[in-house]
Amino acid sequence: MKEICNINDLVEGKGRRFIIDDTEIAIYLVKGKIYALSNICPHQHSAIIHDGFIEDEFVVCPAHGWKFRLEDGKKENGCKGLISYPVTTHNDKVFIEIIKIKYEW
Ligand code: FES
Repeated sequence: MKEICNINDLVEGKGRRFIIDDTEIAIYLVKGKIYALSNICPHQHSAIIHDGFIEDEFVVCPAHGWKFRLEDGKKENGCKGLISYPVTTHNDKVFIEIIKIKYEW
């Protein structure tokens, strides 16, 4: 697990970009829960998921509106979309586990 920030560094409903071990990560705090997803949208391979907006249980890519479930990164239709990373908190610090997965789009 890697420490990435303090919980207070996150803003409800807004994404934040981190680059950990060369991996692009988008962190979201939504209704008090923290989610860590790949920051790279699979549509055009752009690092923009952290700039997305929240719609129900999804983060919506700001470029063309693809939706990814916060919980597991899957697309609306259940197909794979974004890599989802395990998140834990301890003493107000946020930790994520970087798992190297090579996704075939
Ligand atoms: S780049 Fe994300 S939907 Fe097009």
